Amino acid sequence: MFSPARLRYEDEHCLLQPVEDFEIFDGFCCGDDDLNEFIKVDAKPHYDELLSVTYSYHLKHEEAISPPVAFASLLNDTIRQDSERRHFTKSRKRALFPQRKRYKEYPAVKIGRLAVDGRFQRKDIGTSLLTLLKQIFITSNRTGCRFLTVDAYRTAIRFYEKNDFSLFIAKDMDGADTTVSMYFDLMRYKSFILENARP
Ligand SMILES: CC(C)(COP(=O)(O)OP(=O)(O)OC[C@H]1O[C@@H](n2cnc3c(N)ncnc32)[C@H](O)[C@@H]1OP(=O)(O)O)[C@@H](O)C(=O)NCCC(=O)NCCS
Repeated sequence: MFSPARLRYEDEHCLLQPVEDFEIFDGFCCGDDDLNEFIKVDAKPHYDELLSVTYSYHLKHEEAISPPVAFASLLNDTIRQDSERRHFTKSRKRALFPQRKRYKEYPAVKIGRLAVDGRFQRKDIGTSLLTLLKQIFITSNRTGCRFLTVDAYRTAIRFYEKNDFSLFIAKDMDGADTTVSMYFDLMRYKSFILENARP
């Protein structure tokens, strides 16, 4: 029998695990009504209908585990070159891929929703959660996944930029949309990790 335990990550500081019982988020509040409603009402049906998997992030102190301080909801994604809103410019594509790996579509995982409880914001929790997700997707993948993507709230662009996400196209900055599409190249991250692991 397969078990979600395979997707659980734990060290002495934190625990990240797929959520099955969403009542653990009863006391959660991130300051954004849509995200609060998602985690309390919509995340479970999304999980039951295989539309997204939500991960809860907890802090550990000695052996005690906190209630969830953050969550990230993930789903499969594709970056298509014929998409108006999300494609690589020619020069970006040349930089990202050698000639023989230039496809019309690239596999990705989308961060559908991500939020940190208001009491814990600006304490590096969101950054730690993103770092864990990056590590998970370069080590424990069942299928190929080259990019993390996100439709970031405009207020969160700085947060994602600080975590090395890039904007797809500058056109997104025209102010018409409430969110802006961004991506993170997992291959660049993997190379960085390998480079730094060398003796
Ligand atoms: C955006 C969010 C996920 C960031 O998580 P966090 O744990 O607070 O962020 P970190 O402490 O890891 O911040 C890293 C950097 O991101 C930037 N940042 C984080 N929150 C920011 C905010 N509200 N406004 C501007 N910059 C912000 C800062 O540059 C920060 O570095 P600094 O504290 O040294 O200045 C969190 O604040 C949140 O849940 N906000 C409400 C919901 C939301 O906007 N979710 C994103 C949906 S796309």
